[in-house]
Amino acid sequence: MIILSLETSCDETSIAIIKKLDGFTNHYKILAHETISQMNLHREFGGVYPTLSRREHERNLVPILKKCLTNASLLEEEDSELEADTISYCDELLERYPDLKEQFYNFFRLNKIYRVDYIAVTNGPGLPPALWVGVNFAKCVSKVLGNIPIYPINHMEGHIISATSTMTGNEININTLEYPSLSLLISGGHTELVVSTEPHKYEKIGETQDDAVGECYDKVARMLGLPYPGGPEISRLANLGRGARVSYNFKFPRPMLHSKDLNFSFSGLKTHILYLLRDLKEELTDQKRIEISTEFEEVVKDIFLKKIGAALEQTKSKSLVVGGGVACNDYLRDNFKILADELQINLHISEKSLSTDNALMIALTASTHINNKKEPTSEFVAVGSKNYNW
Ligand code: KG4
Ligand code: ZN
Repeated sequence: MIILSLETSCDETSIAIIKKLDGFTNHYKILAHETISQMNLHREFGGVYPTLSRREHERNLVPILKKCLTNASLLEEEDSELEADTISYCDELLERYPDLKEQFYNFFRLNKIYRVDYIAVTNGPGLPPALWVGVNFAKCVSKVLGNIPIYPINHMEGHIISATSTMTGNEININTLEYPSLSLLISGGHTELVVSTEPHKYEKIGETQDDAVGECYDKVARMLGLPYPGGPEISRLANLGRGARVSYNFKFPRPMLHSKDLNFSFSGLKTHILYLLRDLKEELTDQKRIEISTEFEEVVKDIFLKKIGAALEQTKSKSLVVGGGVACNDYLRDNFKILADELQINLHISEKSLSTDNALMIALTASTHINNKKEPTSEFVAVGSKNYNW
C-alpha cells in the first residue's frame, strides 16, 4: 500500500509518500517527505497572510510532487496523453490557479507515475484558500492516476497520530494508544484538549476562548521585536533566563488558571505584556526581553499543567498525547514528562521534526483510516479554524 499525502492548511507546503511494510499493521517506510516553509515570506506580516500562502502553495506543489516521486523512485519520464475528460475535470478545478494549472499539465504530459494506491489531503481546519489549493490539486492527481481514492484528513487528528508515532531512520511506526486518551493540541491556530475513547472518536473538552498559545507566542515575540515565528525565539530567551537563574521582576497573570472548566485564554496575557511595554520607563534591553520571555513561558507552563491535570482526572485518561508546533518547546516537553511520570500515565509527544505542520502526519492518519476500513469520501469542506468542530 502506497499513500501520497498533501498538507497545505497554513504556511507549509508539504508532500509525503509512505509504503506499508509487509507483515506489519502500522509500520511504514517513508519513501519521500518534502516540505517548503513560507515562514520567511510571512515574517514581515508577523503572522500568516492567507492570499500569499495560497499563492506559494500554487507555486510549490508541482516541484515538491516531482521531487517526492523521484525520491520514491515512482516516476518515469514518458510522454503521456491526458484523456479529454481528465482535462476538462482538471481545467475546472484548477481554473482559479493558472500558474499551478500550467505546471500540472506540463508535469503530467511528460511524466508517468508507477504506482500510488491512495491520496490523503488535509481538509481542515486551516486557512480555506490554502486548503482549497491542496484539495483541488489532490483531486486532479487522483483523476490522472485513474480516480484513486482520496482520504480527506483532519489536520488535528494528524497532529495526534504523528505524536503517537516513532520514527527510526526512514521507517515510522504508529504506536497503539491506551484509551481513554487525552490530547493537548497546541499550535499557531489551536489550543485544545480532546478526549478519545476509541480510534477516530474525539470530543473537544476544552479550548482557547481567544488566541491560540502559538499565536500568543508569536504576538508577544513581535512586541519584543523578535522575528516570526516567535515560539522558538521566546523559548531561546526563556532558556537563557532559566539557565542564568535571573531574579526576574515580572509577575504576569495566569488567565483562567482557576476557572472550573478546561478552557484557556491567552489574550489577557498578551495585553498585559503590551501595557507593560507601553508603560516601561526604561529602554527595552535584551535582559528585559529575557526576563519577560522567562516569565511568559512560566505562565504557559503553569496553565497547561493545571488544565492537563484537571482534564486527566475528569476523563480518567490513561495516556496523554501532545502535538502541534508548540510541542517543539523543550521546557514544556520536560514538564509534560515530569507530570506524566508523576501521574504514571503514558506520554506520547511528537518528535520535534513532526510537531510542526507536515504531510507525513496526514499520510499516517490516512493509513489508520484505511486499516480501520473507513471509506474514503468525496466530500471536501476545507473548513476554516473558526467554523470547525471535531
Ligand atoms: O502546528 P504549527 O506548525 O502550525 C499551526 O498549525 O499553527 O505551529 C506553529 C506554531 C507557531 O505559533 C510557532 O511560534 C510555534 O508553533 N512554535 C513554538 C516553538 N516552535 C514552534 N512555540 C513554542 N516553542 C517552540 N519551540
Ligand atoms: Zn498544525
